[in-house]
Amino acid sequence: MTDKVEVILTVNGRKFRRRVQPRYLLADFLRHEAGLKGTHIGCEHGVCGACTILIDGATARSCLHFAIAVQGSEITTVEGLSKGDELNALQTAFHENHGLQCGFCTPGFLMTATELLRSSPNPSETEIREALTNNICRCTGYSNIVKSVVAAVEKIKAGVSAEKEAEHG
Ligand code: FES
Ligand code: FES
Repeated sequence: MTDKVEVILTVNGRKFRRRVQPRYLLADFLRHEAGLKGTHIGCEHGVCGACTILIDGATARSCLHFAIAVQGSEITTVEGLSKGDELNALQTAFHENHGLQCGFCTPGFLMTATELLRSSPNPSETEIREALTNNICRCTGYSNIVKSVVAAVEKIKAGVSAEKEAEHG
């Protein structure tokens, strides 16, 4: 067996230093070394998107990266979206619009939508549908997932307006 290597990653703002096999997957590092089971593993070959996370702000399939290959990176998992028990606007919109059934695909969809809303805060439904083609859902038929992202856009806009109103009295 190959000697273990030291991997240091910052996940959701917390630093993890672990010794793992060189071929240890990032998805396994997140689930078993960092204890963050929100990152799901489906196909394990880059197709389904269930394992999607952000590496330095960009979406990536954690089943396609060795942990050592992203040494020193800042990783965000689905657990990093909420503030403690408080869901963010996107998560709340999925909850309110029935954007999930079994929920297995949901963390991946949330991470993909997070990247979309950061780069394009006011996407059209077509842009939303295009972005979400990166992820597969076996339960929902996608309608409620798209509806959830549309609702999140409105929620975020309403939140920004409320903040501006508060600032200007
Ligand atoms: Fe990574 Fe399916 S588990 S893409
Ligand atoms: Fe079940 Fe998407 S909600 S796979």
